[in-house]
Amino acid sequence: MTEHTEPASFAFDDESEARITKVMAKYPAGKQASAVLPLLDLAQRQMGRVTGSAWVPKVAMDEIARRLDMPPIRVYEVATFYLMFNMQPVGTYHLQVCTTTPCWLRGSDQVVEACRKATGIKGWKETSADGLFTMTEVECVGACVNAPILQVNDDFFEDMDAASTEALLAALRRGEYPKVGSVTGRQTSAPEGGPTTLTTLNFPAE
Ligand code: FES
Repeated sequence: MTEHTEPASFAFDDESEARITKVMAKYPAGKQASAVLPLLDLAQRQMGRVTGSAWVPKVAMDEIARRLDMPPIRVYEVATFYLMFNMQPVGTYHLQVCTTTPCWLRGSDQVVEACRKATGIKGWKETSADGLFTMTEVECVGACVNAPILQVNDDFFEDMDAASTEALLAALRRGEYPKVGSVTGRQTSAPEGGPTTLTTLNFPAE
């Protein structure tokens, strides 16, 4: 955890408010606290949209507590429990490297090393000097079939190795955003080399 400056205030903007109206309509009267997760997500996305850094400052959690009529500590408890909420500013590209067993067995160490080499980041939760990248170690993101996985913001890049990781980060630096999914061209989660069953069916091209 590095030092950071908390903003003095937070208010949901019009785009978020439109979504909040829809979210709140899902919950019966008296059960608004159940909206804490979607509102935390909206706060983080608004911060990303407005400031370029998707995180949830304390003032945003306080605003959510006020809106949902909850004690602020209840919002802090939820926000700090889930890894997908960032409690400090992150870079433009949040590199979430899965190092759980299936990804580790398939080479996540090389992905971690390539990320470090390309960004200059030494430890987890650090942001590169240019503010572009933050590296976080994550547990299984549920895509083991195409391990190892490097998640960038919301997107999964799959079947990664050192070379494809370096190429991906170089492309991001150039302002490009490569196609998400398997970098080896694997068809969804089919075996390497293509499907071995149901081969006569015509699946739509991706
Ligand atoms: S172990 Fe990495 S996606 Fe499951």
